[in-house]
This record gives sequence, structure tokens and C-alpha cells, in this order.
Amino acid sequence: MRFDVITLFPELFAPFQSIGVTRRAFESKAVDVRLWQLRDFADDAYRRVDDRPYGGGPGMVMLVEPLERALQAIHADQAAQGGPRLPVVMFSPAGRPLTQARVQALADSPGAILLCGRYEGVDQRFVDAHVDEEVSLGDYVLSGGELPALTLMDAVARLRPGVLHDAASHQQDSFSDGLLDCPHYSRPEMLAAEADGEGRGVPAVLLSGNHARIARWRREQQLAITARRRPELIEAARARGALSKEDECFLKTLLL
Ligand SMILES: C[S@@+](CC[C@H](N)C(=O)[O-])C[C@H]1O[C@@H](n2cnc3c(N)ncnc32)[C@H](O)[C@@H]1O
Repeated sequence: MRFDVITLFPELFAPFQSIGVTRRAFESKAVDVRLWQLRDFADDAYRRVDDRPYGGGPGMVMLVEPLERALQAIHADQAAQGGPRLPVVMFSPAGRPLTQARVQALADSPGAILLCGRYEGVDQRFVDAHVDEEVSLGDYVLSGGELPALTLMDAVARLRPGVLHDAASHQQDSFSDGLLDCPHYSRPEMLAAEADGEGRGVPAVLLSGNHARIARWRREQQLAITARRRPELIEAARARGALSKEDECFLKTLLL
């Protein structure tokens, strides 16, 4: 899959391509990322890509023409590589909140062109003509679309085949089955007691070696944490028929 990123700050993407899981994704070409510096598509000596808003007011607006030239260059490059024309995703606080379901759909697709806004945003005529989807990271305002683009590519990269060492690991992550993740424990089995307290042990069930009991305990932890912190996710799982009779019985025992 391929991401083409239109940005004024391509340098923000460098560390991301050189560490950890995302580095593996880029090196193995599970995710191919191409960065397009918008200023390269300006048509004046100042490499200007923004101007004042009509109607007055603070801030600057990203200009249509450099964006259209960048998009044309990306389409030409995609065609030269024999790839399909990819949809344009623009980051905006007014977009649809990013979800794991949307991330999974993107991971199963040939990719997207990611448009990172800056300033007050993008001239609406470009949005109307070329943007297929607007994506938000949440109800707050960042200074640019680069962190959202990095977030989206990170979330997608770890779902691509061969990127995580253990393919089962993302299937247990929060949201993959609609619930939050259960708690995790590792060595030592018992943490030494502090002066005024008791030692802190690992839940006994995890040491039992009984895989069915462990799986049930983890499921109940997921249900309990989700019911307390994000009850709307329990409702959604129920509506999808994703809760078993056993799950429903357990949920009734919770004092929320
Ligand atoms: C300073 S913001 C513009 C905010 C815009 N004037 C508004 O009030 O909605 C500049 C750019 O950052 C990106 N951005 C900021 N907050 C975002 C969010 N919550 N989700 C996605 N992108 C965001 C968008 O690309 C946006 O065009």
C-alpha cells in the first residue's frame, strides 16, 4: 500500500520512518510513504502556498493552485507506477473521528493521499473538488495535519501483514473486537513489600496454567473496564450481537 503525504513539513516524518514497528513497515515496503513538499508546487520566487482570507479575519488560507499541481504530480506518479488513483484524505477538526474500523479499512486498501492542513485550513474550493474524506483526531485543534497523518499511518502500518512480530497481537488490542484491552502483567511474580504495605502480586489466575480460565478472566476484565470507562462501546457490541450469554451474565454482576 502507498501513502502520498502533502505537507509543508516533510522533515517531521523522518524519525517515524527510522524507528520501531513503523520502520519495519517502511523498510519491508508493507507501507510505501512518499512525501510531497507543497512549496515545490508554488509558482513564485517566494514559494508561496498561502494567502489572506477573503472577507478578512485572522490567519492565512492554503491556496488551491499549488495544491492542484501537487495532486496532479501525485496522480501522474501513481499512474507511472501502475497503481490505482488513491482517494484524498484531508485532516480537519471538522472531519469524522478516526476509529479502529476506519484504520482497518484503510489497511485493507491500496492507500490514500494524505493532505496535512496548516494555518486556518484549505481553500474550500479545493476541498469541494478533490477531497474524498475529512478525518479528525478529536475535539481539539492542532497546528497542522502532520501529527494526524503520522497517527493514521502508524495505526495502519501495524495492521499490515508481516509488520508485527506476532500477528495475533493486534487482534487482542483495544477496539479490534470493539472492547478495551485487559490489563497485562509481567515479571516479577511478586513485587517486594514497601515499608508500610504488602507485596504486590500478579492475579493468581494468570499463574494457573489453565488457558480457558485465563481467557475467561481476560474477557471479563475487558468487559468490566469497557463497561466502566466506555459504556457506549458495550452497547455497540451488544447491538452487533458480539456479546455471549456468559458475557451478559458477567455484566449483570458488575456494580457500575
Ligand atoms: C490550526 S488548524 C486549523 C483549524 C481550523 N481553522 C478550525 O478551527 O477547524 C490547521 C490544520 O491542522 C489540522 N488539524 C488541527 N486539528 C486537527 C484535528 N483535531 N484533527 C485533524 N486535523 C487537525 C488540520 O489539517 C488543519 O487544517
